[in-house]
Amino acid sequence: MDVLERIERTRNDARESLGNVRDDRALEEWRIEFLGRKSETLTLLRSLGELDPDLRRKAGQAANALKGELEAAYGEKQAQLAEAKIRDASTLGRIDVTLPPRPLPSGRRHPVSQTQRDIIEAFVAQGYSVIEGPEVELDYYNFEALRIPKDHPARELMDTFYVEGGDRGESKVLLRTHTSPNQIRFMEKNKPPIRIVCPGRTYRNEATDPTHEWMIQQIEVLAVDEGLTLAHLKGTLFEFAKRIFGQERKIRFRCDFFRFVEPGVDMAIDCFLCGGSGCRTCKKEGWIEILGAGMVHPEILKNMGYDPDVYTGFAAGLGVERIDMLRRGVDDIRHYYENDLRFLRQF
Ligand code: PHE
Repeated sequence: MDVLERIERTRNDARESLGNVRDDRALEEWRIEFLGRKSETLTLLRSLGELDPDLRRKAGQAANALKGELEAAYGEKQAQLAEAKIRDASTLGRIDVTLPPRPLPSGRRHPVSQTQRDIIEAFVAQGYSVIEGPEVELDYYNFEALRIPKDHPARELMDTFYVEGGDRGESKVLLRTHTSPNQIRFMEKNKPPIRIVCPGRTYRNEATDPTHEWMIQQIEVLAVDEGLTLAHLKGTLFEFAKRIFGQERKIRFRCDFFRFVEPGVDMAIDCFLCGGSGCRTCKKEGWIEILGAGMVHPEILKNMGYDPDVYTGFAAGLGVERIDMLRRGVDDIRHYYENDLRFLRQF
């Protein structure tokens, strides 16, 4: 290869290699390879003396031009790297103490927990105390003691999750289908007068839809005393509803049946979405049921050792999610437990 071709090839190699240099260290390596003492460029210059005078002149000019060109390119690259470093420092690495502080995102209570608290407060204000009971419950408390015996058709209303291998003697173990077992648990150990609320999770093996979930929060209400009547039940629940929904909401009581009360009622609120004309959320009814209630069955009072001729009681079971839906206008109960922050952050 003749000397002019070697100069040309060195120029191309150096240019290409410099294009890949990204930092000071790589630039220094490049300088040593292409401008260092043992580099091709300097080797070329040193060997010029061996050439014929004619070629020596031409090659001399070309080699010097190459050296000058590479030195200039080196300087240019050095400046580029320095400039980039300043740019990085001002945007990334350096802290601008004049910027306003960014607030830390804070957590908040889940909407269902907020409403649970408000409901509890509405009863505490009327003299009630809060108790809690187990979520994994015995068949005895969930059904038997509430007058729902084995093989009774009333069990079909509550599709139950049983705990496999959890039998305790006669009694199966299950996830409570309602908070009513706490009526029994509390009456077993206490004497009237009784005024308690018991909040907690309940489970049913349900197909889900806009108003049904397989886990819901309930609040059980129980009052036992001398002379309590259905009027006390209605008055207490009206007071709660007024506090939670305001005066303008309509309330409906209807007869309903639960094995552990007599008589039994359910309470509904006019649908917040359609205002009562009927829609998907209220299943065209115009009303949304939020609780079941009734007078404690005398047989239960007797089983608990209370004289049903002296004592009467009323009980209610409230669905917290449904109540929250009505308060806030949430159209699908399934939103609550999807943990979608876009939903939760609204409240
Ligand atoms: N436990 C019943 C339910 O979950 C509601 C209820 C409670 C009814 C107390 C009457 C009295 O459906």
